[in-house]
Amino acid sequence: MIRPVSFSDLNSILQIESQSFPKSPYDWTTFLHLQMLHPDTFLVYCNADRVGEEILGYIIFSQDGHVISIAVHPHHRRKGIGALLLRRAMNTPNLEKVWAEVRISNLGAQAFYLKLEFQIAGLVPNYYGNEDALIVQWIPPP
Ligand SMILES: CC(C)(COP(=O)(O)OP(=O)(O)OC[C@H]1O[C@@H](n2cnc3c(N)ncnc32)[C@H](O)[C@@H]1OP(=O)(O)O)[C@@H](O)C(=O)NCCC(=O)NCCS
Repeated sequence: MIRPVSFSDLNSILQIESQSFPKSPYDWTTFLHLQMLHPDTFLVYCNADRVGEEILGYIIFSQDGHVISIAVHPHHRRKGIGALLLRRAMNTPNLEKVWAEVRISNLGAQAFYLKLEFQIAGLVPNYYGNEDALIVQWIPPP
């Protein structure tokens, strides 16, 4: 199930974040701000059963299509969860494009975006301090 984030999800999201981005983790306050700024486009993927819910992944994107962050719990990758989340952004009506920055060393994420029909649109030197970023983008078909 994909739904908008709620305040009580933030600790689970922080855990996924710190496992996914050990070099540049967001902190709790950053996620709180992002939740306030993007209440409709900060989405979580969760499994629900009688015991409760487990957050397995999230995406944060802006109304104009910038993917601010996307991550899936390391134990639940390669099950299609990331693709479901990213397709939500791609299915937003009236978007001119969806784009993201990706570390040049993050070959897994690059393969993921390319599989979802994104293209490499540019390179930003030292975007991550001492590491370049590739800009990947997807333009909806006419
Ligand atoms: C990138 C990420 C969100 C992908 O999520 P996911 O749920 O594992 O992705 P999916 O299962 O939907 O993958 C869809 C397709 O993308 C490609 N893909 C995804 N991860 C890949 C990897 N590590 N290596 C190569 N191809 C990959 C595959 O073609 C995959 O299809 P397949 O499994 O049938 O071969 C996840 O790996 C992640 O959280 N990474 C750490 C955080 C990160 O790097 N985020 C992106 C920053 S820009």
